[in-house]
Amino acid sequence: MFQIATLPHDRELKTDGMIIFFSRRFVKKRQKTYADLPPYLWEELDRFFAFKDFKGDYKEITVYYPQKLKTVKRILFIGFGDLDTLSSHTIRELGYLIAGQQKKLSMRRVHVVLCNLHVCDDYVIRSLTEGILYGNYRFDEYKSKKDEKEWKGKYIFTCNKTGYTPRFRKVLLDTVNTVQGVETARNLANKPSNHLTPRLLADFTKQHFSNFASIETEIWDRKKLEEHKFNALLSVAKGSREEPRFIQIKYTPRKKSNKKLALVGKGVTFDSGGISIKPSAKMDEMKFDMSGAAAVIGCMQAAALLKPDYEIAGFIPVVENMPGGNAVKPGDIVTAYNGKTIEILNTDAEGRLILADALAYAAETYKPGLMIDFATLTGSVVVALGNRIAGLFTKSDKAAKILTEAANNTDEYLWRMPVHDFYSKEIESKVADVKNIGSRWGGSITAAKFLEEFTSNIPWVHIDIAGTAYNVSDVDYWPNGATGFGVRLIAYAFKRLEKIL
Ligand code: BES
Ligand code: ZN
Ligand code: ZN
Repeated sequence: MFQIATLPHDRELKTDGMIIFFSRRFVKKRQKTYADLPPYLWEELDRFFAFKDFKGDYKEITVYYPQKLKTVKRILFIGFGDLDTLSSHTIRELGYLIAGQQKKLSMRRVHVVLCNLHVCDDYVIRSLTEGILYGNYRFDEYKSKKDEKEWKGKYIFTCNKTGYTPRFRKVLLDTVNTVQGVETARNLANKPSNHLTPRLLADFTKQHFSNFASIETEIWDRKKLEEHKFNALLSVAKGSREEPRFIQIKYTPRKKSNKKLALVGKGVTFDSGGISIKPSAKMDEMKFDMSGAAAVIGCMQAAALLKPDYEIAGFIPVVENMPGGNAVKPGDIVTAYNGKTIEILNTDAEGRLILADALAYAAETYKPGLMIDFATLTGSVVVALGNRIAGLFTKSDKAAKILTEAANNTDEYLWRMPVHDFYSKEIESKVADVKNIGSRWGGSITAAKFLEEFTSNIPWVHIDIAGTAYNVSDVDYWPNGATGFGVRLIAYAFKRLEKIL
């Protein structure tokens, strides 16, 4: 789908659409020089600019039909806006826009001209590629009529000889690989609960990773979970007729390494709330309550493709939370994998219960240098941060620094939340070691403090993605449904995390 080529100056390009970006400043300049662009374009450019229609505003598009050129069918002028407001996010949105134009105009070969961009850094290539790939993403598995008009296009990044480097190629390839992980995560999270039960998610994972030599998977069913005393997880599963699963995914690097990263993801294929049942409005959205699991699967796929030099393991507890006749009830007490007893006061705080066993198991048996969990854990994080920024909870300043930097570079934003120990008072139980809810206030923090009880002092990061995992408004490249939040973030951080493992 992607190709990199140099832009010939001595012969006309054969293309369905040449994409040329101009900034507002360039458009304003009275004496425009086009030295970076091939001379055969200059006359057309003069004619185009003579109209003064195009201002170079951000996301402005003008389709121009060249008069003298034979093989350049169209030139799409796209406004870059003001160069100082350009960022990976704004460029990603331009990539998305290009994909939309490619479809609208049914162009087979699109040349994205980069030669006149003097900001052509890694992030420009990465963001444009991501935007274009996002623009080509569709979730139409359950539509009997697919949009057949949609043409798959070929995108050719065209630059001058100095821009055509092995590094360019590597950034492009890494980006495509990362986005494949994102797409896997989005496809999974978008599936409704009747098409993605815990069993089906486990089966998919096993099947999916059988294609990757560096990855092994192991699936546990109810019997194995009982043997391993995953009682907190099992208590959530009791109210559903769907059998629970525990998925483990191990990535082994080519060269042996004693460094290990663990990724843990909340996999609630549907969260009705259980006996503490949720109100019916928007309950359908609780099909997305396995977005943490989806993110971990996406990250593991990205790992297999990007090949970091250390071990990574994914731990994914998967259940359906339902209020069946056998369901766990408020007041029930269960003993988690690490032996701690939990008083379940609200069956809707189920994510932390399944994560309790998974974290404790990962910490005690895998002993990673760092554990990171992704979970659509609390409504309260959405109240605090909205749906563009996920909550970051950790006592590790080093991990927070690396992940925040990754967040700012991938636009999968994180905001560090407090994890002071006095918050743990809120989850003290009168009758058990801990209870699964705190008071009304600071709900995302007490949830994190609950998880902390099960981490056995292994350095740990919790990322609450309840707000960012799906239906994010005002981001073009996340039109609706699942975002795959977390995959680009971790893929970016893979290299940098190595030094703290
Ligand atoms: N899956 C929900 C959290 C959630 C809420 C995700 C909104 C996405 C959007 C979680 O299991 C839950 O129900 N949490 C409760 C906890 C409460 C009972 C302490 C919540 O946040 O209300
Ligand atoms: Zn819940
Ligand atoms: Zn939930």
